[in-house]
Amino acid sequence: MTAVLEAHGFGKRYRRRTWALRGVDLTVPGGSITALVGPNGSGKSTLIRAWIGFERATEGRLSTGGVDPQRNRKGAVERVGYVPQSPSLYRDLTIADHIVLAGTLRAGFDQSMAAGYVERLSIPLRARASELSGGEQAQVGLALALATRAPILLLDEPLASLDPLARREFLHLMVEAVRAAGATALLSSHVITDIEQACDRLVVLGKGHTLLDLSVAEALAHHRIVEGTAEEAVAQGGRDAFVGAFPAPAGEPLTLVRAPVVTPAGTPQLGRAATLEEVVIGHLAAGRRRAIDAATAEAAA
Ligand SMILES: Nc1ncnc2c1ncn2[C@@H]1O[C@H](COP(=O)(O)OP(=O)(O)OP(=O)(O)O)[C@@H](O)[C@H]1O
Ligand SMILES: [Mg+2]
Repeated sequence: MTAVLEAHGFGKRYRRRTWALRGVDLTVPGGSITALVGPNGSGKSTLIRAWIGFERATEGRLSTGGVDPQRNRKGAVERVGYVPQSPSLYRDLTIADHIVLAGTLRAGFDQSMAAGYVERLSIPLRARASELSGGEQAQVGLALALATRAPILLLDEPLASLDPLARREFLHLMVEAVRAAGATALLSSHVITDIEQACDRLVVLGKGHTLLDLSVAEALAHHRIVEGTAEEAVAQGGRDAFVGAFPAPAGEPLTLVRAPVVTPAGTPQLGRAATLEEVVIGHLAAGRRRAIDAATAEAAA
């Protein structure tokens, strides 16, 4: 399958401060819906903005639908439907005005599709943006992005301000639109349980680099949870299987381990199946552990 979004040794440093992202190698296959997950400040928005040419790479190279967004920002923008992390509507314009405006600014924008989505979301077309709640404004932003009919959708935390029902409705609309058009979507989110059903790929960013990049099916098949401490998990599965340890919601220790790809017949599997959220949390814990170890080693040197 061809890669629609690519990053090769991509790095971004803001002024003389530390690197926001460094050494990022990623490929997002065409037709996929990819979840981009990572803690605050891990570089999700920076990477998304760089793919549209809104941030310059300090090093490395990106590709957006076959074009280099640094050399050809217009080409990148044309290929992408983008929803920024904070809603960007014009306060005094009605939703109907926004749809007309998008139609004049953007070739291929489907005004009746946009109006249809807005109506399905029960948002009045005659309302001014300033009269809508934060979540409703976010939904309008999503409707406008879907109606660009762009082959690539980059959605920066599109679910953050939506209530649980609105999240479901939005994901349903997005999956339907992406599948119907054969488009590719990448959406950043903190709430993995929300997007688990909708996404087929998972990318986890740690502090500035990729911790995980694989299909959701692989993520689930290749990991297990040992209900116990890191020491207990290592005693059972060996050092190489260990990924990261973290507490369950009620505080009891859990450890994420790698599952062998092939297990000899009759060998019992370690622990229990992991949820996607546990896979993500285990790798985030491992990323944090490595950062602490690196800082300790640096301080000792
Ligand atoms: N315009 C900017 N100038 C300076 N530093 C910036 C700028 N934008 C982002 N950064 C820094 O780059 C790093 C990554 O920020 P980014 O917004 O990409 O993270 P994020 O993963 O989207 O976080 P969040 O989950 O909070 O949205 C952070 O350390 C941030 O402080
Ligand atoms: Mg962000």
